[in-house]
Amino acid sequence: MKVLVTGGTGYIGSHTCIQLIEQGYTPVVIDNLCNSKEMVLDRIEQVTGVRPTFMQGDIRDSAFLKRVFAKHSIDSVIHFAGLKAVGESVEKPLKYYDNNVSGTLTLVSEMDLAGVKSLIFSSSATVYGDPASVPIKEDFPTSATNPYGRSKLMVEECLRDFQQANLDWSITLLRYFNPVGAHESGLLGEDPQGTPNNLLPFVAQVAVGRREKLGVFGNDYNTPDGTGVRDYIHVVDLADGHLAALDKMKHQPGTHIFNLGTGQGNSVLEMVHAFETAANRPIPYEIKPRRAGDIAECYADPTYAEAHLGWKATRDLQTMVEDTWRWQSQNPNGYQ
Ligand code: NAD
Ligand code: UD1
Repeated sequence: MKVLVTGGTGYIGSHTCIQLIEQGYTPVVIDNLCNSKEMVLDRIEQVTGVRPTFMQGDIRDSAFLKRVFAKHSIDSVIHFAGLKAVGESVEKPLKYYDNNVSGTLTLVSEMDLAGVKSLIFSSSATVYGDPASVPIKEDFPTSATNPYGRSKLMVEECLRDFQQANLDWSITLLRYFNPVGAHESGLLGEDPQGTPNNLLPFVAQVAVGRREKLGVFGNDYNTPDGTGVRDYIHVVDLADGHLAALDKMKHQPGTHIFNLGTGQGNSVLEMVHAFETAANRPIPYEIKPRRAGDIAECYADPTYAEAHLGWKATRDLQTMVEDTWRWQSQNPNGYQ
């Protein structure tokens, strides 16, 4: 079965390609390489023995998409391509709406013309805004506090409307909590450009000596140690969640929504200490003011996904930090 993977050379897309290949699927990767490197394909080949078909191009380019669908008989699309830097989205909102919202609309229009009616979309726990309570269930109210989050929410709503008007489509919205970790081979991992926005890539770069120390954004939250609590999920578990969604939802028309998280919350300082143990070295840090827009606690109720996808995250925190460290220490400068 051929699966079109948009953003397939990116962090989550590349790990999903490996799991797809290992489960007997044929991924066709499209990416404009704005936040990833073609070398990722070499790494996927090194791990699996299969080099995915790659077409470089942009999801906003309908002529390009027409060529992709004409050349390949695609059964389903997993749509990762998007921009994800919250701070940049505040500075350049139109760039985010154009790429993430218009890009998705162009993709869906071209799927429609090509008769491809199965889509899995990368959404985010950011659509829950500042939740009234944790753990978070799929039917909690949604809201957005920045253009990135709003772009995810807009796409969710557009896709819901589209599916209502096209009842034979299957659309699955996967709301990721905090993806971390790397492939166990150490050959693939997260390679942020510039200063990392997210916690674990920053910690990993401190550990490998690329940065002096971590700033911990606030230690006065109403949490056990005062630092922010998140639901960190291993990227390979996350990738497997996509395969479960593909398997279970492809032939079930409707709009399906699932949290992909572990259900466990860990604080910033717990992550730092776990990383210190994995890397066997201290991670210097200093307490800084809270980051604008941050919330105290965010973790999933994963029971709905377990019941309906038959999927559950299995990799623990130690595996997440050990795999991150293997990737970072073997590739101190990422994909160079
Ligand atoms: P990533 O930046 O590593 O991967 C995204 C890929 O999409 C990149 O390779 C980029 O070059 C490509 N891309 C971007 N715009 C494109 C366009 N217009 N046309 C073609 N390719 C384009 O990011 P990721 O962490 O792998 O995230 C994948 C998806 O998951 C994104 O939609 C992101 O918003 C979502 N998500 C990520 C996280 C996270 O923490 N990583 C959390 C929740 C949701
Ligand atoms: C961020 C995004 C969110 C996105 C999510 C997953 C913001 C405001 N939110 O959320 O929209 O869906 O990533 O991609 O950017 N931390 C530090 N020091 C750092 C970095 C982070 O203390 O240098 C803390 C944060 O305050 C937070 C925790 O670590 O408590 C996790 O941060 P991060 O990895 O950025 O994820 P989110 O805050 O969940």
